[in-house]
Amino acid sequence: MLPLPSNAFTLLLLSLLATFAAVLAADIPLGSTLYASDPNSKWTSPNGTTLSFITDSVHPGGATALYAAITFNSIPIWKAGGSSASVNSSAVFRLVASGDLQLLPSSTSATPVWSSGTANLSVTAVSLEDSGNLILKNASGSAVWTSFDHPTDVIVPNQSFFVRHTLSSGLYSFKLQKNGNLTLWWNNSVEYYNSGLNSTMNSNLSNPVLDIRSTGILTLSDPTLSNSLDLAYSSDYAEEGNIFRFLKLDNDGNLRIYSYTSGSGNRIERWAAVDDQCQVYGFCGNMGICGYNDSNPICGCPSDNFELVDKRDSRKGCKRKVELLDCPGSETMLQLDHSMFLTYPPELSTQIFYIAISACKLNCLVGSCKGSTSLSDGSGQCYLKSSDFISGYHSPAIPSTSFMKVCGPVVPTPSTDGTGGRKRNGWRLSAWLVVVVVVVTVLVLVVVEGSLWWWCVRNSSKFGGFSGHYALLEYASGAPVQFAYKELQKATKGFKEKLGAGGFGAVYRGVLANRMVAAVKQLEGIEQVWAYEEFEKGNFYAIVDKRLPRNEIDMEQLIRAILVSFWCIQEQPSQRPMMGKVVQMLEGITEIDKPPAPKAATEGSVGGTSLYASSSISALSTIAASVPAPSSSSSLQTAGILSSASGKHVNRESSSLLRSDTK
Ligand SMILES: *[C@@H]1O[C@H](CO)[C@@H](O)[C@H](O)[C@H]1NC(C)=O
Ligand SMILES: *[C@@H]1O[C@H](CO)[C@@H](O)[C@H](O)[C@H]1NC(C)=O
Ligand SMILES: *[C@@H]1O[C@H](CO)[C@@H](O)[C@H](O)[C@H]1NC(C)=O
Ligand SMILES: *[C@@H]1O[C@H](CO)[C@@H](O)[C@H](O)[C@H]1NC(C)=O
Ligand SMILES: *[C@@H]1O[C@H](CO)[C@@H](O)[C@H](O)[C@H]1NC(C)=O
Ligand SMILES: *[C@@H]1O[C@H](CO)[C@@H](O)[C@H](O)[C@H]1NC(C)=O
Ligand SMILES: *[C@@H]1O[C@H](CO)[C@@H](O)[C@H](O)[C@H]1NC(C)=O
Ligand SMILES: *[C@@H]1O[C@H](CO)[C@@H](O)[C@H](O)[C@H]1NC(C)=O
Ligand SMILES: *[C@@H]1O[C@H](CO)[C@@H](O)[C@H](O)[C@H]1NC(C)=O
Ligand SMILES: *[C@@H]1O[C@H](CO)[C@@H](O)[C@H](O)[C@H]1NC(C)=O
Repeated sequence: MLPLPSNAFTLLLLSLLATFAAVLAADIPLGSTLYASDPNSKWTSPNGTTLSFITDSVHPGGATALYAAITFNSIPIWKAGGSSASVNSSAVFRLVASGDLQLLPSSTSATPVWSSGTANLSVTAVSLEDSGNLILKNASGSAVWTSFDHPTDVIVPNQSFFVRHTLSSGLYSFKLQKNGNLTLWWNNSVEYYNSGLNSTMNSNLSNPVLDIRSTGILTLSDPTLSNSLDLAYSSDYAEEGNIFRFLKLDNDGNLRIYSYTSGSGNRIERWAAVDDQCQVYGFCGNMGICGYNDSNPICGCPSDNFELVDKRDSRKGCKRKVELLDCPGSETMLQLDHSMFLTYPPELSTQIFYIAISACKLNCLVGSCKGSTSLSDGSGQCYLKSSDFISGYHSPAIPSTSFMKVCGPVVPTPSTDGTGGRKRNGWRLSAWLVVVVVVVTVLVLVVVEGSLWWWCVRNSSKFGGFSGHYALLEYASGAPVQFAYKELQKATKGFKEKLGAGGFGAVYRGVLANRMVAAVKQLEGIEQVWAYEEFEKGNFYAIVDKRLPRNEIDMEQLIRAILVSFWCIQEQPSQRPMMGKVVQMLEGITEIDKPPAPKAATEGSVGGTSLYASSSISALSTIAASVPAPSSSSSLQTAGILSSASGKHVNRESSSLLRSDTK
């Protein structure tokens, strides 16, 4: 039975030789050189993956530099030496005689900018594969070195990423942990992202490997796992078409999956590890403050005690105009509202204290610390930042207050968002906006309080005859004004059109309060008793203004308004709440006690001469006597619901109310 194995062996040998020949055909021999000065100088794979000198941006949208890089569909997927190894047009890329692959500043230079470190390892050739892998081979065709095993900032399909690998971009790096968690690091010291898919997976894996599938799924596999785990899906995952997807650590410290459709010319972001770019440590450089304009993160300085290190690149951070060393004894703490200094491991545990906000400020002033953050998120925590590097984040949504040590006096930034925007025009515009928003807010409040007041007192026969239209001036003089529901509707719609997000809260208050006023306006005389009975029975809808569309009524707000209305129709003036209190009650800021039942008022005479004695606007809130002391026994169940209304909830309510107004 000799011929059979012999035939098989021959076949095997032949096929091996064929493969070998094919491989050899694509191989590039020792001594081969690419020149940066020659645009036609390139190595290509059968399908067009290219190694050549390319110009790529150092920053997104920033300066560009020259690199020796492998490109796939003109997307750089590997750079010799990474993004720090930029060269000029006299550079060469060469497989030198010793078998070392080198990037040299010039053809005569002996000191490489980057080298593969494969001298004297019997490398005989280099080849570039369609997958994007660059392979240095020895005489028997074994891979001595591969670019897939030395990634720079990109992982492509078919490229395995192990624990020993690192993606780097500027000061940022990405590593796979032994337990399978993905981690992002700043300057190899601060870990600002650490996420596994499965937090219950605490055991060490034996040899975890991360892959990006060509379908756009980021997977983790390990010999100890029966199946690979899916860590992330690109938003276009499994979409058909000639789509090239890859994972990239960007220069802004975020890890993203991109899609590139052949021929479309640009890549599209499909997933990012850090949702909130401002949470990336150091994104705005040292002492830089990150914030958002409409959608994009922008960098600025904490105040005019600072200036940008590089005026053309705000991401380079800020510096003090006067260094702390130059003003011993006269340091002061700059207060930054709605701001926090990012704190990530390993800083986290050693810097947290549970102290008051003033102590958080003072402890930093007297200590060696550079800044502090009082979280004000209910945790009672304060961080002191003693490191030289401080990374700030400002957003209206952040409750924290931060302090930064500066040489006095404090020079506030002439900007509302506190994140730069130092252009004069921009500042004038925002100052103008503030004025408009403030004026409109005041007007809205005046309208609200006025109408509430009117509504509260109209019960009295003294004011029964009052109705009609008043000019704003007359109104401001303290005279009561009645607003028809239609007018309010019109007015609030108008406000919505005139105002951006800035005036939203005020408009909301106006809409809510006026709606509720309209809702309970019909309570008069004998109706009060009827209404109170209906209320006690829980028939809330029976009481409200029938013009209010039922699907727009928020039960919680309705109950609140009804409670307030019963307080407002109390016979004794001393029992009626002040206007400020009424607004707070309607907004759900204050809990509302159950009101006493109204008397069967046949004649609602109110002894309230002081009610209209004052002529100033602010007096409106002091006209009525104070709210009766709360009696805990009469607190309604609704109080719990009322106090739980969160800001987000409120905003949502307001937008739905407003939307209905535009119909
Ligand atoms: C190379 O290109 C051909 C034709 O476009 C395609 O069919 C083939 O799958 C490609 N091979 C690789 C490895 O990308
Ligand atoms: C390129 O850089 C080298 C040193 O790195 C320098 O000697 C040479 O003059 C530069 N060439 C050009 C064209 O700038
Ligand atoms: C490679 O071998 C040559 C000659 O034996 C020697 O001069 C050179 O230093 C070696 N290079 C390295 C990196 O070991
Ligand atoms: C990736 O690997 C698979 C299977 O090993 C192979 O079929 C495919 O052609 C490879 N893709 C590229 C771009 O090399
Ligand atoms: C090529 O490398 C492989 C693996 O390191 C080794 O087994 C083989 O002997 C090498 N061949 C030559 C000709 O050096
Ligand atoms: C990064 O870390 C090194 C020491 O590991 C330090 O010298 C350097 O100043 C750090 N860079 C910044 C920007 O803080
Ligand atoms: C891995 O990530 C999870 C969150 O996904 C986290 O809870 C856990 O602490 C991380 N493990 C380590 C060792 O950092
Ligand atoms: C975590 O992993 C374990 C084992 O792989 C699995 O049984 C469990 O369902 C996973 N939990 C989550 C929340 O994915
Ligand atoms: C995982 O490995 C690290 C270092 O290799 C070790 O310190 C740690 O104790 C291990 N954890 C578990 C749960 O085995
Ligand atoms: C937000 O900032 C980005 C980047 O600085 C800029 O391109 C964009 O025009 C800005 N948008 C607005 C609305 O200001």
